Amino acid sequence: MAGFPQLRLRRLRKSETIRSIARETSLAPSNFIYPLFVTHGQGQRIPIEPMPGCYQLSTDQLLSEVDEVTQLGIPGVILFGIPAHKDPLGSGAYDEAGVVQEAIRAIKQAAPNLAVITDVCLCEYTDHGHCGVLRGDTVDNDKTLDLLARTALSHAQAGADIVAPSAMMDGQVAAIRKALDSGGYSDTPIIAYAAKYASAFYGPFRIAAESSPQIGDRRGYQMDPANARMALREVEQDIEEGADMVMVKPALPYLDIIARVKDRYDYPVVAYNVSGEFSMLKAAAQNGWIEERRAAMEVLTAIRRAGADLILTYHAKDACRWLAAER
Ligand code: PBG
Repeated sequence: MAGFPQLRLRRLRKSETIRSIARETSLAPSNFIYPLFVTHGQGQRIPIEPMPGCYQLSTDQLLSEVDEVTQLGIPGVILFGIPAHKDPLGSGAYDEAGVVQEAIRAIKQAAPNLAVITDVCLCEYTDHGHCGVLRGDTVDNDKTLDLLARTALSHAQAGADIVAPSAMMDGQVAAIRKALDSGGYSDTPIIAYAAKYASAFYGPFRIAAESSPQIGDRRGYQMDPANARMALREVEQDIEEGADMVMVKPALPYLDIIARVKDRYDYPVVAYNVSGEFSMLKAAAQNGWIEERRAAMEVLTAIRRAGADLILTYHAKDACRWLAAER
């Protein structure tokens, strides 16, 4: 067997051309989904402070964003809603005239080929900020299922292409599948936020979506960051319940989980490069401490290399521009 000096691994790093031939992992606009925050009212374009370049947008303002996303070749968006009113049962989530439902209709009309994915959860719509219905100070799993199912169905009825339950209630995928099937939407796929961790990296999102829990935290339903095998059980459970794609969230601190899910299951793997991961890079870049473009592309490449087929990322638009500039 040839070792050094016959063997020289640096040969394949000699020039950008050679490196590009030897490259194992690629990034393309088709790998990205761009998250959008939809707010109530008209003419609203409110900057989200910890997430430079991201806005709370009213439906009328969404369309320029949608245009941009489409032109960059991004295949889909995921919508989060900021309703005018919140209540204990999160009724804005399953309101036929809710912010997300209206936004879906507007986007599908303007850009019929853009995939509209919806986040199915109650936390942006409940006054207490939890992802389900409260009984005392715990979230009542089974009572929440019906409301999540209604939410998903109302999204499908408004024209959503894919629904993505993120509440981390047991049985939520099965409940949603059943509601979609009996409502005439057996063709609507489900992306399950299967392994969603109780993460500090959601901080900027909660500012953006105004969805922080008013009492307690989400550790009673989101996963313990210390657990990997349990993530595989979560994924398995969601697959059994009818998930079409499975998600790991956050992405960067959980690359091992992405890799294990990819290895074990023959399902498309989605990773959510969450708000805190984005804000960290933005903040460091604004201080001149890190080169945003290189750092962001390195992060996205790492998430793909770990095994993600699709990445939900606030860097989607920037990444597409950077990719285009490389050519
Ligand atoms: C729940 C939801 C959250 C995120 C996506 N869906 C927040 C949470 O669980 O508190 C976070 C996404 C991000 O941080 O970018 N509806």
